Parts: sequence; structure tokens; C-alpha cells
Amino acid sequence: MRKLYILLVCFLIGISTILHKNNTSSEEERLTIYASLMEEQAIKAVEEFEKETGIKTNFIRRSSGEILEKIRKEKENMKASVWYGGTADTFISAYEEGLIEPYKSPNSYMIPNEYKDENGIWTGIYIGYLGFIANERWLKENNIDMPNCWEDLLKPEFEGNIVLPNPSSSGTAYTIVATIVQLMGEEKGLEFLNKLDKQVVQYTKSGLTPGIVVGLGEAGIGVTFLNNVIRYEKEGYKNIEMVAPKDGTGYEIGAVAILKDAPNMNEAKKFVDWSLTKRAQELGKSVGSYQVLTNYKAASPKEPEFIKDINLIKYDFKWAGKNRKRLIKKFEDMRD
Ligand code: G6P
Repeated sequence: MRKLYILLVCFLIGISTILHKNNTSSEEERLTIYASLMEEQAIKAVEEFEKETGIKTNFIRRSSGEILEKIRKEKENMKASVWYGGTADTFISAYEEGLIEPYKSPNSYMIPNEYKDENGIWTGIYIGYLGFIANERWLKENNIDMPNCWEDLLKPEFEGNIVLPNPSSSGTAYTIVATIVQLMGEEKGLEFLNKLDKQVVQYTKSGLTPGIVVGLGEAGIGVTFLNNVIRYEKEGYKNIEMVAPKDGTGYEIGAVAILKDAPNMNEAKKFVDWSLTKRAQELGKSVGSYQVLTNYKAASPKEPEFIKDINLIKYDFKWAGKNRKRLIKKFEDMRD
């Protein structure tokens, strides 16, 4: 009887070891992606990528600065293999800290040079333009004109009515900081941001949220990428309008890259290759993402017609990436 009992225990231990091993290996085989683009876009991309390649994939969506923070913490034991979407300058900061594995995809020939890093640190998948969103009803009720340039945001009527994303978590917000500094120079730019801070009612974690807050009428004015405003209009927020600041605005290149010591390097390369294709890029517009696409063969959504009139600054991504930590610290110290 005792022998039988020992045999049974050994059998159960064996079975549970096999089950555990299988479980661990299937987890390891799953490609993990950190996504900084819209949740719906990430869901769609993962679905289609799985269908086309059979590679099991999962993702976590966080704002660009939050992903940077996360991979810093995971550096010794990288959990994800790909960073998909989010502002390219944050990827440059990550590379400077040894968190990115450069990869030149065979498909990157379809991406013009201005939308990718020459050494394969990041490759651009879309472009978004910074601008203002306003709640029309609020403007009318208060008899206020739509702001047209950055300086307008400092007008007394906007005090306590502006919503911005937070630069330490949001790539959109850091694009605002870097745009202002590139446009006005560092000293004047930081002075401007300090004055603007006094006008702000709320800093949001993600770059998407200012549009919703303004759409709901909780604030009069927000700053975000304008493709998000197109989305909110289509979703039914009829009382919003948008404008790109006339004195010049910055833009993002949404990027994709492979993380250093990626647990699934081969699958990660396949994902990057796939994300640069015409088909993959065109999926965005089917789920409410109206960014301009980087693949020259891909058909960008027709909605951002206004871009032909936008006064774009010559946004320096490398400079922005290399100065991110320093400028964000200055911005935070200034607010204390
Ligand atoms: C939104 C935009 C994307 C952008 C992202 C950055 O999702 O549609 O174009 O890349 O924001 O997000 P973040 O929260 O980092 O500002």
C-alpha cells in the first residue's frame, strides 16, 4: 500500500512538472509587444499579424513615457520584444540608455529616409501633427475666439481652462515641450511653459485624453495630435474644432523598434517587417486612427486634409530624444 502511495505521489509530481514546462514554454513563445498607439489599433494589428503569420502575440498599451519607464525597470530581464507606436524621440532616449536593438528591416526601403533612423534604431509607421482642440460651445458661451498661436494660450480668458498631457508619461506632451523649446529657444521656451502651466486645469497621463476632456466640456482648450480630434469628431463630439498653431507646430513620427535582449528576437523582426507593409499601415483607419502613413505605397486617410496648410517646424528628433530627460526635469522643477 505504502509503495502504491509513493508511486502515485511521484506520478503526480511528474505530471505537474510537464504541465508547468509546457505552460512556461508557450508563454515564452508568445511575442509580447508594448504598444503606445491607440488600444483599438493595437488589438487590430495583433489580430491580423497572428492571422497572417500564426505567431501568438499579446500586447500591453501604455503611453510612450510610461513604456520607457517600464523597459528601464525590466532592462535586466526584458519581458517584451517589440515597442510599437509612440513618439520616435522617446525611442531615441531609450536607445541612449541601451534599451533598443537596432534593426534594419528589409521592408524599410518603403519608408522614406526622413521617417526612419539611418541605423535602424527606430522606423516610422505614421505621422501626427500637434494642434489645439477647442469646445465650440464653451468658446461661444464665453464669447472667446479660437486660439491661433501658442502665445494665445496665455490670454487671461483661458486661465484654468486648458488641459495638457503630462510630459513625463506622454510622448505627445514631450512633443509639445520640445516644439516650444525649438520654436522659442530654451530660456524663452521654458518661460513660456511656466506661464502656460498657470493656465492649465489638468495634466493627463495620455496624449489622447485632452481631446475627450474638451469634447465633454470639462475644459475649453486642449493640445493633442490632430488625428485624435478627427477621431473624436467622427465618434460624435460635434461641438469641437481644431487648429494647428499658425506660428509653427511640431509633429510626431510614430515608431516601431525591437527591444534590447528581446526574448523573441525572430518573431520581433517578423512583426517589425509586417508593421511596415502597406496592408498593416492601412489597418489604422479602419479603427479610428487617422494618422498620415509613412509607407509610400500606403494610402493615408483622406481626413487630415488640413495638413497642406500646416506651418510645420523643422522638428529635430535626435535633439529632442537626447534632451528628453534634461528638459522634462527642468519642466518638473519649474512646476514645483
Ligand atoms: C495617440 C496618438 C498616437 C500617438 C500616441 C502617443 O495614441 O493617436 O498618434 O503616438 O497618442 O501617446 P502618448 O500617450 O504617449 O502621448
